[in-house]
Amino acid sequence: MVAEVGVELSDIEAIQQFSTTPRGNEVIMTNPEFAAREQQYEMLATQHGGYWQHEFIDHAYLYNLYFPPQRFFDQITSQLRELVLNYPVAQGVLAEMVGELIDQLPERIVVGNGAAELIKIVSSHIANTLIVPVPSFNEYVNAAPAGKVVEFNLDAPSFHLDVDKFAAAAARCQADVAVVVTPNNPTSLLVPKADLVRLLGKLAEIDCMLIIDESFIDFTEEPEQTTLESDIAQYSNLAIFKSMSKAYGICGLRIGYMLSANTAFTDKVRQGLSIWNLNGFAEAFLRHAPEYRDEFKVSCTKVKADRDLFYQDLCTIKGLSVYKPDANFIFCRLPANAPTGPEVARQLFIDQHIYIKHCAGKTMPDRSRYLRIASRSADENKRLVIALAKIVAVEMPEIVPHVFDRKRF
Ligand SMILES: Cc1ncc(COP(=O)(O)O)c(C=O)c1O
Repeated sequence: MVAEVGVELSDIEAIQQFSTTPRGNEVIMTNPEFAAREQQYEMLATQHGGYWQHEFIDHAYLYNLYFPPQRFFDQITSQLRELVLNYPVAQGVLAEMVGELIDQLPERIVVGNGAAELIKIVSSHIANTLIVPVPSFNEYVNAAPAGKVVEFNLDAPSFHLDVDKFAAAAARCQADVAVVVTPNNPTSLLVPKADLVRLLGKLAEIDCMLIIDESFIDFTEEPEQTTLESDIAQYSNLAIFKSMSKAYGICGLRIGYMLSANTAFTDKVRQGLSIWNLNGFAEAFLRHAPEYRDEFKVSCTKVKADRDLFYQDLCTIKGLSVYKPDANFIFCRLPANAPTGPEVARQLFIDQHIYIKHCAGKTMPDRSRYLRIASRSADENKRLVIALAKIVAVEMPEIVPHVFDRKRF
């Protein structure tokens, strides 16, 4: 029998049987498997990757599960020997390859060892005063020296960016670099393009560069209309940062790029790179990526379909506030009577071998009440909804028609 939420009742029974680990402390002390999982959880919570070596379902990292296709792995495997034995190409050729992929001039492109490398260069060496809305991807703030970064608090519960207030704050603190991540991490909320264009104008008046981080833009409704990449030549104070890890599902290869028509800014960022900053495997990916344009689009459509169903199913958990996602992950607020985010994450890991991110490490009010959950395959998402409902509402998700009139924050 298939329930309206798309969760089969047999799934629910299976999860109920699987989830036999008691929650009491006495049992924690006497159950060696539980203690081992707890240790593993504590260890993972301090890591930033390498998860594949451990057995759990990763709803924490934000990959596209449906890309790259098998053909790419076959190609790279056949070139393994050469890729290991030879020096890779340097920045000029890397920029040409990214330029071909995104249809942009190579002189406007700087290719990084992940976007993280470019973020580090700008936050720690280029910006004199950096302003960042928070909560957001922590690395922009973490990579900046103390005293050089200003955090602009997004108002809860909407977490929407008011670009006029943000521009005024940038002027007050005399920021020379401002950052906007859209869709934002962890909220999964998009900033409308019209707002960003207005922000660019206001920041230009105070000679402030705007970094727009579009790492999750491919998961929005209409990426081609939403991105500012095609408008890059119009704004001399714009730099677009994009991690290729998420959308292209290649976190281990480490590729990200910056696109800007501001030559002085791109020159400064390039100066921060080492000569061979990407390895041969990353080079091979960029060389072959244009062959897979169609597969890439199809894979993003599939990610979005899973994510939309996941959103609807999460909305059936009583008391959970679920933010309508624009990226491939979902931001939720726990009800007051539920355990905290860190407790929920820990319990899901120990009982169900599912790893999610809580937001206790983010800068935001009530940070221990929020979760960020990556969407995976439809089956994995269903399993998570059932397990989460048990912890949050101590009941199964309501087997009722979808509720579409839920407030969109
Ligand atoms: C918004 C955002 N930008 C950039 C990055 C860094 O990506 P990478 O260094 O893997 O390219 C991340 C990683 O989570 C992110 O969330």
